[in-house]
Amino acid sequence: MKYIFGNWKMYLNFEESVNLANFLFTEKLDDSGIELAVFPTALVMKDINNILKSTSIKTGAQDAGHPSKGAYTGMISAEMYKEIGCEYALAGHSERRHLFGETNKDVRAKVESYLDAGLKPVICIGETKKDRDSDKTRYRLAKQIMRAFEGLSFDEGQVLVAYEPVWAIGTGNACLPADATDRIDFIKSEIAKYSQNFVPVLYGGSVDEDNVLSYFSLGSIDGALIGSASTKISSFGNIIKSVLK
Ligand code: PGA
Repeated sequence: MKYIFGNWKMYLNFEESVNLANFLFTEKLDDSGIELAVFPTALVMKDINNILKSTSIKTGAQDAGHPSKGAYTGMISAEMYKEIGCEYALAGHSERRHLFGETNKDVRAKVESYLDAGLKPVICIGETKKDRDSDKTRYRLAKQIMRAFEGLSFDEGQVLVAYEPVWAIGTGNACLPADATDRIDFIKSEIAKYSQNFVPVLYGGSVDEDNVLSYFSLGSIDGALIGSASTKISSFGNIIKSVLK
């Protein structure tokens, strides 16, 4: 099973999000061979779930708060996303870690709350340029994995990881497929220290319609988490169609 996940971030307004979901629906871009999911803004989630409900296309939250209920102004809990039909939620996306100061501890709390709510966490990890330049990529990845997985109990198929080098996100400077494979093999061997369950690992960072197949042709990469190229009908449509061929 290969995964194509589209992280729409804060790129699309209500109408644009609905248009893109309608496109996925009318083009019948779901297929049993791939797991396709989109991560729209919270504002439009219920409408998108309605549009896609007769398809196999799933939705996920870009982030969710880890308390399940209470006096947390501005937060939306994992349970609330589950209630309106979401399947996944990102945990620790690089923008959450670097713009909003989320720590490995926060990410772990989110992973546990997502699992409790019945959502599948997509745990985002990746090294910064500084890490890479100082030869700390493996150290950074191993630490993020340890904090997320040590002592975590989950069923097979309930947890995914996205390897997203911070320097590759939104820069057009995608990680070379061979290097991404090498990191993903390392990530899988680190996860195996904490769990015998198979955990799919996706690559993310400047994936587009020109380079997507170079990631999908490599065995250890289980899919792609795509940001800006997933927000346009033409590029997202071409990505999905090329992988489905
Ligand atoms: P990008 O974003 O494809 O725009 O680089 C990927 C991501 O942040 O998930």
